[in-house]
Amino acid sequence: MKSIRFSAQEAPANLRPDTRVFGVSGSPRRNGNSDILLKSILTGVVQHDLSSEYLNLTDLQFQGCIGCERCRKDKICTGLVDGMSVVYDRIISSQGLILVSPTHNYNITSWMKAFIDRLYCFYTFDNNRPRSWSSQLAKQGRKAVIAAICEQENKHDMGFTLEAMKLPLEALGYDIVGALSVFKIFDKAGVKHDDHAMKRAQELGGRLADALKN
Ligand SMILES: Cc1cc2nc3c(=O)[nH]c(=O)nc-3n(C[C@H](O)[C@H](O)[C@H](O)COP(=O)(O)O)c2cc1C
Repeated sequence: MKSIRFSAQEAPANLRPDTRVFGVSGSPRRNGNSDILLKSILTGVVQHDLSSEYLNLTDLQFQGCIGCERCRKDKICTGLVDGMSVVYDRIISSQGLILVSPTHNYNITSWMKAFIDRLYCFYTFDNNRPRSWSSQLAKQGRKAVIAAICEQENKHDMGFTLEAMKLPLEALGYDIVGALSVFKIFDKAGVKHDDHAMKRAQELGGRLADALKN
């Protein structure tokens, strides 16, 4: 598993996905609970013989979608030129995807929301209103797992965090093969001491790898 730091000179997209996994953390607390959970999920992926890379979104210079709709014609985001230009390559070329977010106000973080909005360029719409759509990422055996972590102790307090990742990924054509909710963790890196959560995270990574290999 390796962390990636992006430079503007990296290679352009390879269009078909490889059997590997790209992991994304949406926490602004670097090496905090979401990063630790993500790394544990990736350990499971690697133990099941797939390669992986991960990214904390705060390492990326990028903006939220500006709704310019240039992607309708260009099929990729051309309205903004920023760190996402290179991340698109990782998304296209990785058949597996992991999204992890802490709960911020009952929802995913603003970084994770901005990231998901930037995946809008992968949709193809028709011209009716409301428009029906398909995804350029669909029907390629893409699979994902999602995880959320929060301070409070039940689903209500986690709010929409898991759904806010699940629904867009499904619309984009990912089969969600597992989801993990971790409660009652507030302190930075506190999840390290939750053996049950760490074990479930690792198992989730193994499940993703197995699903991709089958
Ligand atoms: C701005 C902000 C909003 C938060 N909102 C919630 C919330 O709605 N529900 C909850 O249970 N925890 C909430 N938390 C607590 C975090 O989800 C919790 O501390 C989590 O473990 C942080 O994970 P991280 O280390 O990956 O950032 C909030 C934290 C912050 C900073």
